[in-house]
Amino acid sequence: MARVALVTGGSRGIGAAISQALKDAGYSVAATYAGNDEAAAKFTGETGIKTYKWNVADYDESKAGIAQVEADLGPVDVVVANAGITRDAPFHKMTPEQWHQVVDTNLNGVFNTVHPVWPGMRERKFGRIIVISSINGQKGQFAQVNYAATKAGDLGIVKSLAQEGARAGITANAICPGYIGTDMVMAVPEKVRESIISQIPAGRLGEPEEIARCVVFLASEDSGFINGSTISANGGQFFV
Ligand code: CAA
Repeated sequence: MARVALVTGGSRGIGAAISQALKDAGYSVAATYAGNDEAAAKFTGETGIKTYKWNVADYDESKAGIAQVEADLGPVDVVVANAGITRDAPFHKMTPEQWHQVVDTNLNGVFNTVHPVWPGMRERKFGRIIVISSINGQKGQFAQVNYAATKAGDLGIVKSLAQEGARAGITANAICPGYIGTDMVMAVPEKVRESIISQIPAGRLGEPEEIARCVVFLASEDSGFINGSTISANGGQFFV
């Protein structure tokens, strides 16, 4: 039986590339999305990957959604917590809403996605948790106090889960993408984006597939001794 992989925010951007790469590697993939039914239907039509709609910021919705995925595809073996949003603003202009929206989705969303699958992974003695963090969780970023806090929080989550899951055959790792050519980065004002690219030694934005290939490796049996680690994939922009 094919292993089952759940990818949150899995129908667009980096998440879509991850869903596709896992499917190509032989997994049964469930991709979640938050709101855009039309885009999700198009994604399913093009890829054959099943999509599920729920809000990762809501624990009960996540739990019910995951139960549906497991009824359809079988127990979840691999979780890719990828869903994330930005609400950028300099701190003096950042509103409590902007803070809470980002924390609810990016950080609480990881808890809400991993917590329901954790007991099953412990029982079955296998699991792969892969959290998509960000270079900006490592270095901070002007106008991203909210986002950087959640992405740094991801690293604490995987380092702790790694210690709890190791003896049960579960690994938890983070990937910190740098600036990748997705809608999220294209939404940054052009002048700012050009200045960001000039700071990337590779001289270009990354491609979603470059992150997806890291995920496929971390999901595999071969990665079993890599646990609690952070893979930086940023074209040389920042070293930890
Ligand atoms: N460093 C230092 N100063 C900066 C800056 C930076 N990176 N970006 C903007 N500024 C400065 C501007 O030069 C300007 O200064 P002056 O007032 O002296 O001219 C000031 O900050 C801008 O202030 P505003 O009041 O005009 O700012 P605003 O309220 O209009 O907000 C912004 C603009 C939201 C900051 C916008 O510039 C922006 O979106 N910046 C990009 C932030 C960013 O990099 N986000 C990353 C998104 S991609 C992502 O998150 C994916 C990932 O994981 C990598």
